[in-house]
Amino acid sequence: MIPKFFLKVGRLIGCAIVLFGWMIAADSIAPRSAGAEPTKPLEKAFPHSEKCKRCHLRVFEEWEASAQSRSILTAPFRISLNRLIEAKGEKGAMMCFRCHAPHILEYPSHLKSFIDEVRSRDPRIDGVGCSQCHLIKDVKTEENPPLPIYALGKTIFGGYADAVENLAHQSEANPLYRRSDYCVTCHHSLPSMDNAQPLPGWLGNWRATKAQKSGKTCQTCHMPEAFGESANGERNRKIANHSFPGRFGKVRAKALEVDFETEVTGNTSHVTVTLRSLVPHHLPVPHPGWSRMVLDLTILGKNLKKVYGEQRLYERVYGDAHGAPTVFDFEAATILKDTLLKPEETRVESFTFPTPTDAPSMDVILTVTYSPVHGPKEFLDQIEKEAPLGTKDRAFQAVEVLQKKKNIPLKKR
Ligand code: HEC
Ligand code: HEC
Ligand code: HEC
Ligand code: HEC
Ligand code: HEC
Repeated sequence: MIPKFFLKVGRLIGCAIVLFGWMIAADSIAPRSAGAEPTKPLEKAFPHSEKCKRCHLRVFEEWEASAQSRSILTAPFRISLNRLIEAKGEKGAMMCFRCHAPHILEYPSHLKSFIDEVRSRDPRIDGVGCSQCHLIKDVKTEENPPLPIYALGKTIFGGYADAVENLAHQSEANPLYRRSDYCVTCHHSLPSMDNAQPLPGWLGNWRATKAQKSGKTCQTCHMPEAFGESANGERNRKIANHSFPGRFGKVRAKALEVDFETEVTGNTSHVTVTLRSLVPHHLPVPHPGWSRMVLDLTILGKNLKKVYGEQRLYERVYGDAHGAPTVFDFEAATILKDTLLKPEETRVESFTFPTPTDAPSMDVILTVTYSPVHGPKEFLDQIEKEAPLGTKDRAFQAVEVLQKKKNIPLKKR
């Protein structure tokens, strides 16, 4: 335990450093009027997450472990960004940064340097960092996709109406931070390019779901409430987890309920699977374009040898301008196939297969996983080359959502 006194002193020193390094020069608050960029430098308007770390260590460490903190760091992002730039020029990259590093919206003249930072593989800029989220004052929900509206002052917005005062920033409670609209800003859809028809959104009709209507917001599930310190050394209170569990992390166990029945009729057997999505949005969310979930049926016969396997895929297959399938959704002109699990949908899948012979019983195993990245070979080769861990990169790992298993006795035939 560090005595409270030292924490307080440490905090004051922290404040002084922050004041010196960040706020003093950052007082000319110029909200962006159409076309004009703010007069203060970008690094002052959007302080780096490292600057918040000294007082919000717990939040910082959670965020650092989250996908949001990797939004401009992954090999698949770099490679697909480059592919878009080859096709559409550097201006096209605006579209990706609008959600992956949204401070570009305020500083469009920095586009070239954002691209260079991403290509450096060790960017000095944040992607979706603390400021990119906590300076959002409002959301224009009527835009497609919605647009965040920033207020680049000394005020940090959040969910508390009674935040303790501090020397680095003012705090202001903003009801938006407890509403789904806040998150949907960046989780809605790709903006359409070249005046093409906008494609359906990524989440589906989340507004009409039971979860939403019963008051569950994105934050309820993806920023689960806990009790602890919001800033170093402050009293414990309700806090929001910042590791944004999703594909990774604990919420996964609550994604689906799966039940199945097996019927053996002589030489053929049937398995009927009922998948009940508990999630108020599509599963999976169809961005990036290679997002895919798999339901795998495996039958083990005599000596636990695999005698049968079949899969069902849940995905949105995009078609490019020539109607050919593409895993790059920014090339999409149409949707060729959509088997996504709809919000809170119940789906029934039936499988028929030969009953294993010479076996006293069979094992029926059902597994649901998020697939690893897939697509053209040169794309996968590039990821392997670009990723520091090569084939061990996260992108190549399947993530198991759940597994169910039953042993079914078989009559002697
Ligand atoms: C400024 C844009 C932005 C906002 C606002 C935003 N997100 Fe995200 N979010 C992203 C991006 C970009 C990623 C993907 C990062 C990556 O993996 O490259 C992401 C990733 C995630 C993931 C991880 C997905 C996975 O595959 O596991 C979850 C969960 C998530 N966000 C939830 C939320 C919630 C909840 C909110 C609202 C509190 C929110 N997001 C607000 C941009 C945003
Ligand atoms: C409307 C906001 C938005 C736009 C625009 C957007 N993305 Fe994303 N992107 C996200 C979110 C949110 C996620 C996380 C999705 C999830 O995990 O379900 C994500 C995830 C990804 C991923 C997978 C995670 C990773 O980092 O490897 C890649 C790759 C990616 N985006 C590339 C792009 C590219 C390239 C563009 C530009 C063509 C783009 N995105 C435009 C919001 C956006
Ligand atoms: C994707 C957007 C997003 C990002 C990134 C993000 N936050 Fe938050 N943060 C929120 C939202 C939304 C809330 C309010 C949650 C609630 O009240 O339910 C919140 C709450 C907070 C709180 C008060 C509650 C608590 O858990 O202590 C603090 C402090 C905070 N954020 C600091 C930070 C810092 C520091 C970072 C960067 C390390 C950061 N946030 C990154 C969206 C974000
Ligand atoms: C000098 C220390 C210090 C620094 C630096 C600092 N904060 Fe805070 N912040 C605090 C304290 C103290 C609170 C009040 C916590 C409480 O009430 O429990 C707070 C509260 C907050 C809240 C909650 C506001 C609300 O009304 O809900 C958010 C969000 C937040 N900070 C984000 C940030 C972000 C983002 C940064 C970096 C840009 C940052 N803070 C930098 C000390 C600091
Ligand atoms: C009732 C809880 C619940 C609510 C509310 C909820 N989600 Fe989810 N979401 C989940 C679960 C569970 C998963 C994990 C699925 C898995 O891993 O199998 C998930 C996965 C995700 C993912 C990543 C998975 C993917 O398929 O790419 C994103 C991004 C996401 N949610 C965003 C959101 C947004 C944005 C909202 C608000 C509109 C929201 N969620 C509301 C439960 C919820």
